[in-house]
Amino acid sequence: MAVNLKGRSLLTLKHYSKAEILFLIDLADRVKAQRRAGEVHQRFRGKTIALLFEKLSTRTRCAFETAFGEEGGYPVFLSSNDIHLGGKETVEDTARVLGRMFDAIEFRGFAQEMVDALATHSGVPVYNGLTDLYHPTQVLADLQTLREATGGLAGKSITYVGDGRNNVARSLMIACAKVGTHFSVAAPDSLQPDRDTVLEAKNYAEESGAEIIISADPAEVLPKSDAVYTDVWVSMGEETKSAERVALLTPYRVTADLMKRTGKASTIFLHCLPAVRGNEVTSEVMDGPQSRIWDQAENRKHTIKAVMLATILAPTELG
Ligand code: CP
Ligand code: NVA
Repeated sequence: MAVNLKGRSLLTLKHYSKAEILFLIDLADRVKAQRRAGEVHQRFRGKTIALLFEKLSTRTRCAFETAFGEEGGYPVFLSSNDIHLGGKETVEDTARVLGRMFDAIEFRGFAQEMVDALATHSGVPVYNGLTDLYHPTQVLADLQTLREATGGLAGKSITYVGDGRNNVARSLMIACAKVGTHFSVAAPDSLQPDRDTVLEAKNYAEESGAEIIISADPAEVLPKSDAVYTDVWVSMGEETKSAERVALLTPYRVTADLMKRTGKASTIFLHCLPAVRGNEVTSEVMDGPQSRIWDQAENRKHTIKAVMLATILAPTELG
């Protein structure tokens, strides 16, 4: 059956099927090629999007703002200092008002309940631009980058090394399990993904054929990995944990030696960025020949454009 995502929100990729995720990545490839060819499209002409940010952002904000703007739409950036969200006015009431004025809403912040409530009460597509729990638009770019580098997704493998219970690791596990990419986590016991998400991922994986492995020992899961992925040791909002994380995660730093333990020179290195050079990854790896981090950052824009196009427009309007 043809995929039609018009009107859908993207709160977590748990709500998307394998076919829908692949549809979005295919569309991202198409809009990337269009931009490379210098084609100008105005598919969001006359449309507006509200970009709500409680936390800082470089890539996500710029991807939403430029992708919407270059398609002729009008993005409005609103930080917590600008609007009443969750302060004097309830999130439900803000959602109702924004839904009357905008064609779509993006939210980045702390509570997943906030982005869920915006979706429930606004009546327009709402996109999770990162919460404490999930970062779904990030992992669409990660899968696009993996496919560009390796030629596929099903049967390929990503090993995530570091803080295995953060928003990025959790979202990657869900997406990989859905599309059939093997996913391993190497993390100390206290920073491994929560049991419920692992069980849910293993459930999806039964259908897709993905293997989900959680280990405290990088040596167990690194061999043959197509991609090694890491993220910051201290996510936004967890700054008080800094010293504790450095102590726990130093053995999990992605170094050139660790990359060699995959046994394959073709293994790529991925990081959602921003990176703390010298903490979770060395500059040698970030700037080395296996690194695909700049492609990955660029792909944020193409995948986010694809998500907005697919959910705001009808399939016949995608072009
Ligand atoms: N990867 C990512 O979400 O980057 P920003 O925090 O800069 O948006
Ligand atoms: N885990 C990181 C991702 C940043 C894009 C954070 O939440 O800060």
